[in-house]
Amino acid sequence: MGIWFPKLYDSLMGPLERRGVQGIRKNLIQKAQGYVLEIGSGTGLNFPFYLQAEQVIAIEPEPLMRKQSLSRATQSRVPIEVMLTGAEELPFSDNSFDTVVVTLVLCTIPDPQKALEEIRRVCKPNGQVLLFEHVKVNHPVLGRMQEWMTPVWKRLCDGCHLNRNTLELVKQTGFRVTSLERHYRNIFLVIEAVNRK
Ligand SMILES: C[S@@+](CC[C@H](N)C(=O)[O-])C[C@H]1O[C@@H](n2cnc3c(N)ncnc32)[C@H](O)[C@@H]1O
Repeated sequence: MGIWFPKLYDSLMGPLERRGVQGIRKNLIQKAQGYVLEIGSGTGLNFPFYLQAEQVIAIEPEPLMRKQSLSRATQSRVPIEVMLTGAEELPFSDNSFDTVVVTLVLCTIPDPQKALEEIRRVCKPNGQVLLFEHVKVNHPVLGRMQEWMTPVWKRLCDGCHLNRNTLELVKQTGFRVTSLERHYRNIFLVIEAVNRK
């Protein structure tokens, strides 16, 4: 990962956050309860919205992202620890977490299938998984544009794919989707799921 993406992330996200993404985060994150794992927490844009969690363990493999998140962690209403590690091999025991939070990250993780399997392993039976992700749309023109743009986009945005079928992947991994909201022409999905075990 280059250094410009972590440094510019908050500024790049600013317009999107103000045009609705921050509201989506707020509604979703306040549902996180108990012992919470956040995957790929970036600069910690979700941290202000944790209200009910007892404790949050965030994982983030990019040192500059993690560093930027630390001040947000100290200002949070709930205790947050940020560990420098990736999602494909989580350093936690089976059935550890009540809630797992995943926002705008399955687009970037090199092996999202492995990451979801790990999330399933560390999340308790009937634990909740809260996701906010952008996905490939089922539209002939827009979908083709997403395929076409992904090779360049990936290079510019540190591995971010525009063309992943994340909803299908979540279902195939064994999670039961309990709520689905679509935003911005179906490009962004808010998915609430339960860990069936
Ligand atoms: C687009 S940013 C999203 C950050 C944050 N979740 C948010 O909602 O603003 C993608 C994040 O995924 C992280 N990431 C990349 N590969 C990862 C992996 N293998 N495991 C966990 N996180 C990863 C990146 O370092 C980056 O912080």
